[in-house]
Amino acid sequence: MSDKVLSQFKQEEIKEEVKRERKVKVGIIGTGGIAFSHIDNYLDMPDVEIVAAADLIPTKAESIMHRHYGQPQVRCYHDHKELIDNEPDLDVVSICTYNSQHAEPAIYALDHGINVVLEKPFALTVEEAVEVMKAEKRSGKVLSIGFQPRYDYSVQYVKQIVQSGVLGKIYYVQTGGGRQHGIPGGTFIEKDKGGIGALGDIGCYSLDLVLNALGYPKPLTVTGYVSDFFGKRPQFNEFPEDAERFGVDDFGAAFIRLEGDIILDFRISWAMHPDTPGDTIIMGTEGALRIPSCDCWNGTIEPGLKLYHDVAGKRVETPLPYIPKGSPTLFYRKLRGVIDRAVYGKEDAMIVPSSEIIINQAIINAILDSAKLGREVEVKIPEID
Ligand SMILES: NC(=O)c1ccc[n+]([C@@H]2O[C@H](COP(=O)([O-])OP(=O)(O)OC[C@H]3O[C@@H](n4cnc5c(N)ncnc54)[C@H](O)[C@@H]3O)[C@@H](O)[C@H]2O)c1
Repeated sequence: MSDKVLSQFKQEEIKEEVKRERKVKVGIIGTGGIAFSHIDNYLDMPDVEIVAAADLIPTKAESIMHRHYGQPQVRCYHDHKELIDNEPDLDVVSICTYNSQHAEPAIYALDHGINVVLEKPFALTVEEAVEVMKAEKRSGKVLSIGFQPRYDYSVQYVKQIVQSGVLGKIYYVQTGGGRQHGIPGGTFIEKDKGGIGALGDIGCYSLDLVLNALGYPKPLTVTGYVSDFFGKRPQFNEFPEDAERFGVDDFGAAFIRLEGDIILDFRISWAMHPDTPGDTIIMGTEGALRIPSCDCWNGTIEPGLKLYHDVAGKRVETPLPYIPKGSPTLFYRKLRGVIDRAVYGKEDAMIVPSSEIIINQAIINAILDSAKLGREVEVKIPEID
C-alpha cells in the first residue's frame, strides 16, 4: 500500500471516528515502559480520551500523565482495583503491567464489564490464562492480547502464502531468532515480576509468526531447554549490576510436535555469541519459505522473504515483495482493533484472540516444564467451560 493510500485510509478512519457521539473512555493500568506506546497512540485517536491511569509506584502515573504528557485531567490511582472501582464508565483498559500482573487485572477488568487490551505474553502460566479466558467468557467483553506484529502487512502476507497452499503440505518449521547482546533489564529480568525471560518477551512473537500462519495447530509434545549463561554475567548486561537481579531465562530452545505431523524447531535468545541462530523457514512438499532473521527480534518482518520451489522441473528461488508497515503504527492498529470491535461492534476489526494465544502460552510453559524435568512433556490445552 502506498503512503498516499494509507494516509487517505487514516483520514477516512478519523472522519468516521469524529462522527460518534461520546468519546471512548480508556484507562491505562501500569505506566512503565510500554505504556508510552499505548498512550502515544490513544492520544492520536480523536474519538478516544484517556480518563484514568494507575501505577503501584507512588506518583508514577501522575508524573507520566500530568507532567510528561500534559494531561492534568487524567485521574490517577494506585492499582488496577482502585482505578476500576472508581471509573464505572470505562470502555477499554490497556493492561501494561509486568507479566506477573497480567492475569489479575485482566480478570478484574473483564468482571467489571470492561474490554481489555492485555500486553504480551498472555500470562505466566496456562492456569492463569485459563482464568482470564473464563472471565472473558462470563463477561462477554472483548479481550485482545497485545501482539502488534499481527498487524504488520508482511506478517499477514506470510500467513496468506502458507494458507494459499503454494507450499503444499507443511512438515517442518524452524523459527526464532533473537538478539546478540540485548538483555532488556528493568522488570523483564526479575523472577517475581517478569517471571519468564527471552521466551516470554520475544519467543512468544516467533511462535506466533509461524503458528498463526499455520492456523494454530495444537501442540502435542515438547522437548524444551532454557539457560541463563549470559544474564548472570555483568559484562552482558547494559547495567552490570543487573546481573545480580537476573532471575529468568536468556535463551530457550525446543522441538515441538504439532498436530498434522508438523515439527517445529524453535530457539530464542536475548544474548549469544553468534549474530543469529538462523532464519525462520517453513518447509512444505511443494515449496519452502524463508523469512530472514533480523537484529532486534520483535516479531515483525524485514525485506528478504524468499520462496523456493520447482517450476517446470527446474529449481527456482523467487524473491517475494516486502510490504512496508506504513502508517498508522502497528500499535495504533492493535489498539484500534479492540476499540472498533468492542465499542463500535465492527465484527471484522482485527483482535488477537485468547483462543489462539492460549496455545502459545501452553508451548512456553511446556518448554519451561520440559527443561526442568529434563525430558519430553505432553501438552494439553484446557477446555474453557
Ligand atoms: N508489545 C510490545 O512491544 C511490548 C514491549 C515491551 C513490553 N511489553 C510488555 O509490557 C509489559 C510491561 O512491560 P514494561 O517494560 O512496561 O514494564 P515496567 O516494569 O516498566 O512497567 C510496568 C508497570 O506496571 C506497574 N504495575 C504492576 N502491577 C500493577 C497493578 N496491579 N496496578 C497498577 N500498576 C501496576 C508497575 O509498577 C510498573 O510501573 C510486559 O508484560 C511486557 O512483556 C510489550
